[in-house]
Amino acid sequence: MATGPATWDYRDAHHEEFGNTYFRRYGDGLVSSIGLGTYLGEPTDAVDEEYEEAILTALESGCNVLDTAINYRCQRSERVVGRALEESDVDRDAVLVATKGGFVPFDGERPDNPGEFVKEEYVDAGLVSREDLVAGSHCIAPDYVEDQLDRSLENLGTEIDLYYVHNPETQLREYPHERVYDQLEATFTRLEERAAAGDIGHYGVATWEAFRVPADHPSYLSLPEVVERARAASREAGTGGTHFRAIQLPFNVVMADAFTVAAHEGADGATSALWFAADAGLNVFTSASIAQGDLAEELPEAVAARLEGDSTVQRALNFARSAPGVTSSLVGMRGRAHVEENVAAGRFDPLGAQAFDAVFE
Ligand SMILES: NC(=O)c1ccc[n+]([C@@H]2O[C@H](COP(=O)([O-])OP(=O)(O)OC[C@H]3O[C@@H](n4cnc5c(N)ncnc54)[C@H](OP(=O)(O)O)[C@@H]3O)[C@@H](O)[C@H]2O)c1
Repeated sequence: MATGPATWDYRDAHHEEFGNTYFRRYGDGLVSSIGLGTYLGEPTDAVDEEYEEAILTALESGCNVLDTAINYRCQRSERVVGRALEESDVDRDAVLVATKGGFVPFDGERPDNPGEFVKEEYVDAGLVSREDLVAGSHCIAPDYVEDQLDRSLENLGTEIDLYYVHNPETQLREYPHERVYDQLEATFTRLEERAAAGDIGHYGVATWEAFRVPADHPSYLSLPEVVERARAASREAGTGGTHFRAIQLPFNVVMADAFTVAAHEGADGATSALWFAADAGLNVFTSASIAQGDLAEELPEAVAARLEGDSTVQRALNFARSAPGVTSSLVGMRGRAHVEENVAAGRFDPLGAQAFDAVFE
């Protein structure tokens, strides 16, 4: 598990290579504001090898945030994160390992008949009820999420610092908001218990649409309500304070709505997901920080001119990690060259608050 002292030692070994605020607070520890994601790529041995090289390079280079999910690349991404952590000379306790559960995962490869696989392995096996399964692939019921958490612990071979409930807004395709919040609270209660037992450090919610869309959008979830449900879960589990610590959402130059859409009721009225999270003391991890590769090619000129970096991708990453409240911007990266270029974005200073606001004027 990541610890304060080990992450501070990691920072001490690397911080001179980086600009201002490259390492940021995460509880009593510090994490890099550029993190490695493992979503994209085919479920093959060749891609596993590319990720393994990328993770080892990242850990050596000053990136101590690894993000995965049980369903990524048919569980291969979690397994490769586990192997790389085992192989790396970097102290496991210096690394924030995050994963997610919610989407029913395949195992090693895509089955010929995915529907049949889900039915046999999950529904018939009693792990998912037909009622809780949405879109044939998504479930956030407490028993199911706990079973997924156990599988992730096995895949990773280590405790999980941050466990996200993955894209809970998927449930809104078939169920009303109240049911989704109730199920989140029930699942959070289990995650509180698992945190108390030491299997996970903290938990959170990873979303694609929920927190960045307007309040009247069908995929909207209220961040204040989710936080309230986590507090209730902590009371139910008797953990003496919630272990809900983080959210993940997409944020980049062309998807900036987590900053621009004021959809969450804060103390002074409606505010954006990023500002609400910052005020609530939550850690924010941005996904798709370079728009799934598109921003490696081209950035809007007016924005690029304000950002520091030697390359387009570095400027794009420096935009994402300049936003208020962002702890770390995740970027999917394979192989040594992409990691070296992306982590080197951290040698430049991010935009200050005023300069960041000015981009939107
Ligand atoms: N809802 C959710 O919870 C959610 C959704 C999406 C993503 N995520 C998380 O966020 C992470 C980041 O998002 P993402 O991977 O979807 O998108 P991304 O980080 O915006 O983009 C990744 C893509 O950019 C390419 N790339 C990386 N560095 C590059 C460079 N220096 N030059 C050129 N191309 C480069 C990668 O290629 P290579 O792979 O070849 O390096 C990959 O195709 C994910 O990996 C995942 O961990 C979470």
